[in-house]
This record gives sequence, C-alpha cells and structure tokens, in this order.
Amino acid sequence: MIISHVVALSNNNVIGVNNNLPWNLKTDLSHFKKYTTNKVIVMGRKTYESIGRPLPNRINYVVSKTIDQIEGAHVFTSTESAINNARDYCIKNSLNEIVVIGGGFLFRDTLSVTNKLVLTRVDCDIDGDVFYPEIDLSNWLEKDSISFSKDADNDYDFIVSTYEKVK
Ligand SMILES: NC(=O)c1ccc[n+]([C@@H]2O[C@H](COP(=O)([O-])OP(=O)(O)OC[C@H]3O[C@@H](n4cnc5c(N)ncnc54)[C@H](OP(=O)(O)O)[C@@H]3O)[C@@H](O)[C@H]2O)c1
Repeated sequence: MIISHVVALSNNNVIGVNNNLPWNLKTDLSHFKKYTTNKVIVMGRKTYESIGRPLPNRINYVVSKTIDQIEGAHVFTSTESAINNARDYCIKNSLNEIVVIGGGFLFRDTLSVTNKLVLTRVDCDIDGDVFYPEIDLSNWLEKDSISFSKDADNDYDFIVSTYEKVK
C-alpha cells in the first residue's frame, strides 16, 4: 500500500497561514486535483474547514475529536484509526494509495508510515503559522521532478518532486 504526502511548502517549510494557503498557485492546484482524484484522501479537521467541503471524486477522511459527522466524508477520532480504515477500504476497493493532504498535524502524525512524498517546493521564504516537518531526504529516492515558472496564475516559481522511501 502506498501512503503518500502531497504538500506544497516554502523554502522555510511553511505550509499554511491563518488556516489558509500562503500563496496562489493555480497550476499546483490542478496537479493536486489530478493526483488525488479517485483516491482516498486523509486530512485534519482544520484542513477540512479550510477547504470548506468534501472534495468531489475522492474518498474524504477527516481526523477530528470535535466533529462527529460530516456529510460526504468519513470522520475518525484518531489518525491511526483513519489510516487503518483507509487501508481496509483500499483493499476492498482495489485501490493502492492513501494520500495524506495535511495539515501540519496530520503530516507529523503520519510521517512514520509514509512511503511516498509528492512535494511542491515553492521558491519563497514566507511568514506562516503551520510548517511541514524537517525531513532527512537521504532515506528517500527522487523519482521525478518538474519545474514551473511564476506567471499570472502562479505567485512563485515551484518544483514538483516525487520521492519514494528507500527500504
Ligand atoms: N501547503 C499545503 O500543502 C497544505 C496542505 C494542507 C493544509 N495546509 C494548511 O495547513 C493549515 C492547517 O493545518 P493544521 O496543522 O493547523 O491542522 P490540520 O492538521 O489540518 O488539523 C488539525 C486538527 O486535526 C485533528 N487532529 C489532528 N491530529 C489528530 C489526532 N492525532 N487525533 C485526533 N485529532 C487529530 C484535530 O481536530 P479537532 O480539533 O477537531 O480534534 C486537530 O485540531 C492551514 O493553514 C492549511 O491551509 C497546507
């Protein structure tokens, strides 16, 4: 089973500010949509609230101890129970990937079970209040990398890189 992180982070590891993304990167949002469509996505309650609705054409899992139920999403009181349930769901439905989509709490909670990283490195140093954990990439193998340039739809240059964990 692949358990991945899909995350956009600045040079100083910022991923969020005021419960929102710190940038507009339309092309990266298209990449996010394409990568996650038809997969199980797991997110923290704050990320769910920031998005504001279950994402269509994906199986939405939300981790929260304060919200019991969300129409169109499955809610779990612990990260472990969400991941375990997602594994069972994938096996039953012939799916092979669980995508953790944030935020900071969920990325930290799932780092030890994650075996794939899809990192969007946004070329900026920026103020924020939520950070991606520091990762020692010596245990990871880069599989591919694509560069994108700042333009009218994208606030900064960015690179999307995929890594797989070395066993
Ligand atoms: N740049 C990116 O790629 C990216 C991706 C996603 C999010 N973000 C940003 O990240 C920020 C949100 O991240 P965040 O770290 O503040 O919050 P988060 O991880 O989205 O959600 C935190 C909440 O999840 C629940 N939770 C997390 N771990 C739990 C556990 N082990 N057991 C039970 N519940 C748990 C708790 O909800 P309850 O309080 O309800 O119990 C907790 O308050 C926003 O700014 C968002 O825009 C950025």
